[in-house]
Parts: sequence; structure tokens; C-alpha cells
Amino acid sequence: MTGVSGGSPSGVAREPARTGGDAPSFREMWRDLAPIGRNATSGGYRRYAWTGADGECRDWFRAQAEGRGLAYEVDGNGNQWAWLGDPARGGAVVTGSHLDSVPDGGAYDGPLGVVSAFAALDELRASGRIPDRPLGVVNFGDEEGARFGLACVGSRLTAGRLTRAEAHELRDADGVSLPRAMEAAGLDPDALGPDPERLARIAAFVELHVEQGRALDHTGDPVGIASAIWPHGRWRFDFRGEANHAGTTLLADRRDPMLGYAETVLAARREAELAGALATFGKVAVEPNGVNAIPSLVRGWLDSRAPDQATLDTVVGAVERAAREHGARHGLDVDVVRESATPVVEFGHALRDEIGRILSAGAGLFGEAPGPARTAPGARSVPVLPTGAGHDAGILSGTVPTAMLFVRNPTGVSHSPAEHAAEADCLTGARALTEVLWGLTRGQDLT
Ligand code: GLV
Ligand code: MN
Ligand code: MN
Repeated sequence: MTGVSGGSPSGVAREPARTGGDAPSFREMWRDLAPIGRNATSGGYRRYAWTGADGECRDWFRAQAEGRGLAYEVDGNGNQWAWLGDPARGGAVVTGSHLDSVPDGGAYDGPLGVVSAFAALDELRASGRIPDRPLGVVNFGDEEGARFGLACVGSRLTAGRLTRAEAHELRDADGVSLPRAMEAAGLDPDALGPDPERLARIAAFVELHVEQGRALDHTGDPVGIASAIWPHGRWRFDFRGEANHAGTTLLADRRDPMLGYAETVLAARREAELAGALATFGKVAVEPNGVNAIPSLVRGWLDSRAPDQATLDTVVGAVERAAREHGARHGLDVDVVRESATPVVEFGHALRDEIGRILSAGAGLFGEAPGPARTAPGARSVPVLPTGAGHDAGILSGTVPTAMLFVRNPTGVSHSPAEHAAEADCLTGARALTEVLWGLTRGQDLT
């Protein structure tokens, strides 16, 4: 269901019908999103792409756009957009993030960027600051890749970094294909594909995100700016052995894939430690998955990230060698398939520095404590930090000038129900985003 509402049929927003003064506040938006897809037992979110919970989040986004009199549209890749001003004019400044989650994810990863985007837009309008440039809010589809295994599907397709044919091959754990899932959610899977015209209209994309580490907690700042995203990827390791009876098969006679898998998990940890990288086996599937049966198959997914590509390649190469060696010792067949790879992202310095200048000039936004990683000496400069987490901003950065703001996370915990940010910091983040959007919509050259 690609289309536009709340503006003219061409997607051009009329003059805003509302000033934003009666739009729901940050707290109200947060409260309305909070119950959607929340599992009562774990307290975590299960908002997987193109499921009912994701649909409810998307309905919420649409209602926020239309309630503010913004032009609402869904692009061919299922990303949702809300526009103040006519995007066809070009030179747009866009902000937003995603609303889907990992299994039992936290409330902030994604939604904080979308709620802050609407709040920032409201603040601009309430203070009479109507931008010269079109201003967009976006909810990218299927950022976490929790259901189909590949992260950032919506932005990858749009940026031409995933083809329609590749997207059509994606399957969830029940064998449902991405096209069928999108169709069931009312979208046309034949519309998937690169969208260069849309991206050409965007002069800058700024994604606000909860920090997924503790750097800001250490510097004492509520808000930071991203410098880079580590290269990362996902690899599927299949260990095939022989199913047999757990009570009658002698240890010496077994071809037990769990052993090869377990030794590979430990090897991954060792290799990551040696290289100063990260390696995680966070998902595993076992067949036949019976307590009293030796498995026939253990399939584990490696997520690995490193400060640079060479280190990442070294770690993954070493883990693969370990898997093959341990597999051979246990009489297993081992297959390793790279499911995704995202190269390092270094956010453009011009936009990053401009955002640093805008925020450093902002009154009372930042903590006073000096930090080690600042744009410039001085108590009001903003920390600039790398992250190991992937983001739609990273995917777009090859095509569009892109930047990220981080909001302090006092424990650093993320991808967990315990993920948290103080409300005061979230509001500071939204104010920082407001100033950034205002500064950027007034700038002449954002490249
Ligand atoms: C997304 O959050 C990722 O880094 O995997
Ligand atoms: Mn995430
Ligand atoms: Mn995220």
C-alpha cells in the first residue's frame, strides 16, 4: 500500500493545518507506544517486521503524521514518511529511526528516534520556526532483521544495497517469505527496490538513537554525536552430524554437532578477545531438538563486529577455521554462509562538525563535566563517539549526508528489556534534535 495522505495527492504537504501546539507531547507519545508488542512475561518488545505488533506501531506512526497535518506516505519498500513542506522541492532534512525490535528488545532502540522526531517538529512549529526546507520524519521498516535475518531491510532496499530478488529470497523461521509477509501487511512486494529519486531529495538525514554503551555516562553528557559504525556482519554456521538415541549410543560412536558448535562458540570468544573485536552466537536452532536425542543439526548464527575490516575478517576467518577443525574431529559436516556484511561507516565530517557547532551553541543542553572525546576543548562541546551497533543511518550514509545523535543510557544495556534512558535525557535529546533540525534547515550547503 504505497500512497500519500494528509497532503495533496502528489505527496506535497499543504501549509500545516495545525501548529503542533495541540499535538501529543513526548510523554503522551511514549505512553501510547509503550504497550504495543510488549510481552507480559519478559517485559520486552516483540515488534517483528510485518507482524501485528509492527502493524500497530505503523498505525501509530500514521496517526501521528495525520494528526499533525503532515503529508503521509509509504514508499515501495514499506518505509513510512511524514512531511512538513513539499519533499519534491528537494534539499530536505529528514530525521527518524525505526519501530521494530529484536526479540525481547527494549523500549528505546528505534522508538526514541521516531518519538523525538515528532517532538522536535512540534517544538519547531510551536516556537514559530517553520523551516525553509522540507522536513521529514521516517520510520524505516525491518531495521533489526529479527524475523528475516537481515538488518536494515527497508533502508538497504531504498539505497540499492539489497536487490528485490535478494529480498524476495528472505524467509522467516516458519518459511514465510518477506514478499508474502509484506503482502499480508497490505504492501506490494513487486514495488521493492532502489529509490534514488527519493534519496536525491534528502540533503541530510539525522537519526537520534539511545546510546548502546556507556560512553556518555562516563563523560557525564546527555547527548553525543556518532563518529563511526564498526564494520559488522552475520554468519550462519551449520554443523551436521547424526541423530541417535541419547541413552544407548556410546560416546565414541557419536557424531554430535553440539560438540562442534560448543567448541566454536568458545573459539569465537577467544579470537574476539585476542583481536579487540566482538563475536556473539546469540541464536541457535537444533534439530530434532529433543532432550533424549543426539542432534542431527546445530545451526548457530555468529554476529561479529570490529573496529576495522581487516580485524573483522581475521576474527571471522579464525572462527570459521575453528569450526571446520572441531567439526572434523567430531565427524561433522560444516557449512558457513555469510548472511550479511556491512562495511565500516565513517559519518561525514562536514555534517558532523556542523551539528557539533549547533549543539555547542545551544543554551543549557549539556552537562558540565569535561570528557575525553570532545569536538573541541570546552565544557559545552559535545562528545563524538563510535558505535558497534548498526543503524539505517549507516546504510544511507553512502548515498546521503548522514549523522547520528546518541542519548545517554546509564547502564549501557540494549537489546534487552532493561534498556533505559532517563526521561530528562530523552527530552534533552529531543531538544538537541530540534536545534539540529532548525540549524540544518537554515543551512545552505549540507554536504
Ligand atoms: C542493530 O541494532 C544491530 O546493531 O544489530
Ligand atoms: Mn537495535
Ligand atoms: Mn536501532
